[in-house]
Amino acid sequence: MSKSLQAIRGMNDILPEQTPLWRYFEGTVARLLDNYGYKQIRMPIVEFTELFKRSIGEVTDIVEKEMYTFEDRNGDSLTLRPEGTAACVRAVLEHGITGGGQVQKLWYIGPMFRHERPQKGRYRQFHQIGLEVFNLDGPDIDAELIIMTWRLWGELGIRDAVKLELNSLGTSESRGRYREALVEYLSAHHDKLDEDSQRRLKTNPLRVLDTKNADTQAVLVDAPKMADYLDDESRAHFEGLKARLDAVGIPYVLNPKLVRGLDYYSKTVFEWVTDKLGAQGTVCAGGRYDGLVEQMGGKPTPGVGFAMGIERLVLMLETLEQIPEEISRQVDVYLCAFGEAADLAGLALAERVRDQLPNLRLQVNAGAGSFKSQFKKADKSGALYALILGDDEMAQQVVGFKPLRGQGEQQSIAWDALAAHLATCVVQG
Ligand code: HAM
Repeated sequence: MSKSLQAIRGMNDILPEQTPLWRYFEGTVARLLDNYGYKQIRMPIVEFTELFKRSIGEVTDIVEKEMYTFEDRNGDSLTLRPEGTAACVRAVLEHGITGGGQVQKLWYIGPMFRHERPQKGRYRQFHQIGLEVFNLDGPDIDAELIIMTWRLWGELGIRDAVKLELNSLGTSESRGRYREALVEYLSAHHDKLDEDSQRRLKTNPLRVLDTKNADTQAVLVDAPKMADYLDDESRAHFEGLKARLDAVGIPYVLNPKLVRGLDYYSKTVFEWVTDKLGAQGTVCAGGRYDGLVEQMGGKPTPGVGFAMGIERLVLMLETLEQIPEEISRQVDVYLCAFGEAADLAGLALAERVRDQLPNLRLQVNAGAGSFKSQFKKADKSGALYALILGDDEMAQQVVGFKPLRGQGEQQSIAWDALAAHLATCVVQG
């Protein structure tokens, strides 16, 4: 196939054999969010470029080098969303749904786009489930977000494989004071910093803390600590969060170097990381952004949220073999019919059964075929039972009911009794 007809590097098809696991994951998260009282919001995939520049920050990696930006036919600069928070803030402001202190607990799901170097767990089109809460400023809601994810890891069977890293960035005032102290210290060690950190020192000094370079890390050992610059309010907020996590029994590691790659955060930041995926180990990340709504033209409105990477979590379920057995079976019952009259009767019978058992996964053989070939397809479908309609069964108005997974002998069931019989032997989802 010519290259121009292939998928774009870093943008993947999710094939039919993979979608059951995706749907299981997405369904588990959606149910959990419903149960905690979150409501879904859906935003466009494309927004004005300015939105992301203003919210994520001009000197972040995302805005500087990772956005898919293009001009549309009107000459407007548009960007495929690299994340969901900016668009969610835009949407709540545009529709006035956070005005007057209204609390909103929102979640979204969908593709995001970043022009990063593709590798395992890092793609150019990837999918997030994200969540944003507006107008709650206490540590109780920060704790709820983390508690909810902790429950999710438990339900998915991956709790032992993830670790929570936590930090507080303080208010913008305390961060400003810390930034000054850090710049002063790092400037005194300028020559020992790697090139990228030298550049960041000028543009976005807190990001130097994030460096992977060993020499720069060595310099950072004696650098001023963010915790020493926290204002009283941020300190109390952080203590409140930790007390709640302790009360529920959620372990965490304090990571003073955790600064996040987006500029809108204040106070709480956190990441759930794993060592099961290689280099791309952050599966869920977020924090508080109390200044963002105002920065985007709204009234001061506290906000907090996170997003998880679906590809990474699906990979984790696969790596840790936490794939529930029931999702690998897509078909409960497979109906084989032989001859024209049986075909017609089979279709009508299948519809009657579906009327009575709407959750039954009943597949009717299509494309005719010999007894042997239909049976082979029935078996391959993974169904628990085959239904057989041939000349004999037609004459007696019964259907052959054959267990395919070794649970007993074939029997004949009257057409009228079929739905009731199936209800007793198939557990329907
Ligand atoms: P983020 O840390 O940029 O935060 O992304 C959140 C998660 O998305 C990451 O932890 C990771 O699991 C996944 N992710 C990011 N980039 C990629 C990629 N190239 N390939 C695969 N997965 C990826 C945000 O996006 C913030 N909007 C989160 C947030 C919401 N903060 C507050 N509210």
